[in-house]
Amino acid sequence: MNEIEAKDKQYVWHPFTQMQEWVAQPQMVIEAAEGIKLIDSEGHQYYDGVSSLWVNIHGHRHPKIDQAIVDQLGKVAHTTMLGLVNVPATQLAEELMAVVPKGLTKLFYSDDGSTAVEIAIKMAYQYWQLKGKSKKQKFVTLANAYHGDTVGTVSVGGIDLFHRIFSSLLFESIQAPCPSCYHCQLSSDPEQCGMLCIDQVEKILAEHHEEIAAMIVEPLVQAAAGMLTQPKGYLKKLRELTAKYNVLFLVDEVATGFGRTGKMFACDHEDVSPDFMMVAKGITGGYLPLAATFMTDEIYNAFLGDYTQQRTFFHGHSYTGNPLCCAAGLANLEIFREEQVIESLQEKIAAATTKLTAFKQLKHVGEVRQQGLMIGIELAENPEKKIPFSWNMAVGAKVCKKTREYGLIIRPIGSVVVFMPPLISTVVEIEHMIDIIYRSIQDVTETKQDQYDDEEVAAVLI
Ligand SMILES: Cc1ncc(COP(=O)(O)O)c(C=O)c1O
Repeated sequence: MNEIEAKDKQYVWHPFTQMQEWVAQPQMVIEAAEGIKLIDSEGHQYYDGVSSLWVNIHGHRHPKIDQAIVDQLGKVAHTTMLGLVNVPATQLAEELMAVVPKGLTKLFYSDDGSTAVEIAIKMAYQYWQLKGKSKKQKFVTLANAYHGDTVGTVSVGGIDLFHRIFSSLLFESIQAPCPSCYHCQLSSDPEQCGMLCIDQVEKILAEHHEEIAAMIVEPLVQAAAGMLTQPKGYLKKLRELTAKYNVLFLVDEVATGFGRTGKMFACDHEDVSPDFMMVAKGITGGYLPLAATFMTDEIYNAFLGDYTQQRTFFHGHSYTGNPLCCAAGLANLEIFREEQVIESLQEKIAAATTKLTAFKQLKHVGEVRQQGLMIGIELAENPEKKIPFSWNMAVGAKVCKKTREYGLIIRPIGSVVVFMPPLISTVVEIEHMIDIIYRSIQDVTETKQDQYDDEEVAAVLI
């Protein structure tokens, strides 16, 4: 066993991982990366098919981002934003304002998606207290939502597995149905499913708006739920309803932001301008941890006052607005502009769509969902009758283990195979990666059951 692997198993606890299984199985050590390829300790190269957990945009070791960080290191690595201004954080704020949906005028920095959402939750709550509407304390969420792992963000999440054990720690939210047609209890017709789900949201808002602070959603795609896509017009309708019932609209673009859906932000597809928007992951091109919570003047102004009035937002993190992260963020935006990333994406998205049509021929593919370069392939025991594979067969994990043999690293969500390549991937590379996924699904699901039942599988959920 590689020395690093042994020490990892001795000392490190991995996220979302059953460590008993982790230590019992061989693990891959990544030592380097170049472009969209990860390189392990034995020199093998693999496509980074999940963009290092949905963060990487322009590939690894992009010379512009590398250089921006090195340049900033020559000035200062970190200073606090409590009581001080720093140059890259200010410059990045100005540049971000030029690309986010109109109406968002201020931002609050933090470190990752969970903190960006936690901040929006606390600000929305405090906003209504400051406005003298102290009964408005509740949050409306969608079934199957995922907004992070802190106690506040799990409270507005809807994935039962992550909730159950912590339930007594969490605050209660009001859950609306998620408009996922494949799993929909209401209708499997996308348009009808969307309308019925909207009706349910309106019912909740009409009945409870006086006690509702905000509604929070992942726009267009509920990623961690298994890339569940929403019907066209659904997001816009939610914006209209929340405005009608005086409920704040919080849009979580942590997974969808920075080009993933084919536009800079998912909100751009439906010309939606929320009260809050949260971003993280791709904000530094996938290099360093940074997040931002955007809000309108209306929210920001409500917190203003003499310090003795205690209207201040009492929240902050040690590394808020870290200059190295912000320098990477500036380089990230520069690459978007110079390399016309959004424009060049359209051809890649179309190529993926074409390639994915062949998956319908596979015996165990239930649905292929795609929004831009966010792709989820739902595997099922019997796709026609929508009978899922039993979770303990870990079929998704087995497929992802197989793709590694063919040189592609991806991760499943239950029985959904997730494919989220870096945006810089070429059409040829995307097609190659999809071919690998196709072959791996075929190998695993169309092989005789007993040949893969006792295969070693890493216990992976996300
Ligand atoms: C929509 C959404 N919100 C929040 C988060 C949490 O982000 P982080 O893992 O950076 O805390 C994620 C992570 O996948 C996400 O997909």
